[in-house]
Amino acid sequence: MSSPQWWQSAVVYQVYPRSFADSDGDGVGDLEGIRQHLDHLSALGVDVLWLSPVYRSPMDDNGYDISDYQDIDPLFGSLDGFDALLADVHARGIKLVMDLVVNHTSDEHPWFVESRSSKDSPKRDWYWWRSAKEGTVPGEPGSEPTNWGSFFSGPAWEYDDATGEYYLHLFSRKQPDLNWENPEVRQAVYSMMRWWLDRGVDGFRMDVINLISKDPALPDGDVRPGEEHGRLGRFVIDGPRVHEYLAEMHREVFAGTDRELLLVGETPGVTVEEARLYTDPARQEVDMVFQFEHMQVDRGASKWDVLPFDMRVLRQCLARWQEGLADVGWNSLYWDNHDQPRVVSRFGDDGPCRVESAKLLATVLHLQRGTPYVYQGDELGMTNYPFTSVDQFDDIESVNYFHESVAQGEDPQDVLAGLRAMSRDNSRTPMQWDDSNHAGFTTGTPWLPVNPNHVDVNAASQVGAADSVFEHHRRLIALRHEEPVVALGDFTLLVPDHDQLFAFTRCHEATELVVVANFSGEPAELPGVLADRCAGAELLIGGRPDPTLTPWESRVYRHRSR
Ligand code: NOJ
Repeated sequence: MSSPQWWQSAVVYQVYPRSFADSDGDGVGDLEGIRQHLDHLSALGVDVLWLSPVYRSPMDDNGYDISDYQDIDPLFGSLDGFDALLADVHARGIKLVMDLVVNHTSDEHPWFVESRSSKDSPKRDWYWWRSAKEGTVPGEPGSEPTNWGSFFSGPAWEYDDATGEYYLHLFSRKQPDLNWENPEVRQAVYSMMRWWLDRGVDGFRMDVINLISKDPALPDGDVRPGEEHGRLGRFVIDGPRVHEYLAEMHREVFAGTDRELLLVGETPGVTVEEARLYTDPARQEVDMVFQFEHMQVDRGASKWDVLPFDMRVLRQCLARWQEGLADVGWNSLYWDNHDQPRVVSRFGDDGPCRVESAKLLATVLHLQRGTPYVYQGDELGMTNYPFTSVDQFDDIESVNYFHESVAQGEDPQDVLAGLRAMSRDNSRTPMQWDDSNHAGFTTGTPWLPVNPNHVDVNAASQVGAADSVFEHHRRLIALRHEEPVVALGDFTLLVPDHDQLFAFTRCHEATELVVVANFSGEPAELPGVLADRCAGAELLIGGRPDPTLTPWESRVYRHRSR
């Protein structure tokens, strides 16, 4: 990379507005609630706020189903309220990045309402309409144009009685896919993006952006044993025109602006090779991508089939991404977001070593090469929720999966166990501000239950408390701002075969950081090779330079002139 970019030394904080802070007592978080808690972000020291969708929406997928791209849903506030939030965020020197959901709209978006009204509608071709498979009866099960299964269970095609055709929806039936082959669609999206930039936002996190180009032949997918529908990934992930579209978007929306913007693509299923293409600065597509491989290291046959966690697999995966994007492109670094369970429960220890393991996960995250994303509650070491019944879940993906699996004869208790470990609702429970009723999130009834551990795990007890997870994150963020090696240094994995230690160096000019993390609940001896590496270095983060690391202990050493 030629000259350093501002976002290389930045840290992003993700807010999921429904669950962050409720200012009006309706049990759902809102923009005013975020505005009232900006001190929290300033105290942490983050540079960018990424706001999950707040647009007008029927909320089938909690706002990832948008019915008006240029308005705020009344549940969250108004455009005036948005402007007030943006002004306050900017006044604190923080940037604001919007979620951009343009692979699909809501079925209640006027574009889709118009499109579905008739086969002759001028917007018919704005979505993927197809007739039933040849020789079948339209509307009957099995007559869908392809055998594809949607990401949210059931077929990826919905039959529409009015015109006797099907429309494509990779996600819920209320999220029809836009047809990016149509240049009018692309221009409408670009014009909406320019409208938000003119309003003052500082960039976009682009939802499933690598799914916007589909193989126009729409071939059937492979059906795996025990599955009802075909896999669609091969035909929609990193599709034939996706790079062309992103380059065009860049030209149409971002070229010529001298503002410091952040463009991040969410790219499920992306490979290292494709990620290099998306993020190569010379190609002018996006600045960084969200890849998912490290979120699948504990995945069996499906997302719900959870394998025992093996740190060595995680380490190898992360190191491969570090090395793969070393010379071209850039990593987004994340553990949690609104689509993942809480990492302390997943890769750490949410029991006796919750605090230590949350700190270790933070150390390993912030000190890799890339831009770290802190999801609300990460900085407190929030954990999964102890779900006991399907009625406690709200998430469409989880609820659909439960009902489909039980209908296919699976044991409800087994299905529930999968949801408890992997459901997205684990990270969507309300933010834990204090130990009061509903954790200070709302004065009403929260839309999702508050984790009972909020009496111990909350912001009020951690902000300013020297040994807290919050203060640990704050130190790591400050280190990135102060010490160029964190943003710019190269990455080298150390002791790659060790069973407990995840260790690496970061080097830039004369400075070297050595990061050592005991990713286990047992003490770990510092092997000779690491002890030598740390000898004479300053211990920047971590308690004592003992030869033995305590369970889940992490340390950062610095050499000034290597
Ligand atoms: C990815 C988003 O992060 C997720 O929450 C959503 O359900 C899907 N895209 C569909 O928009």
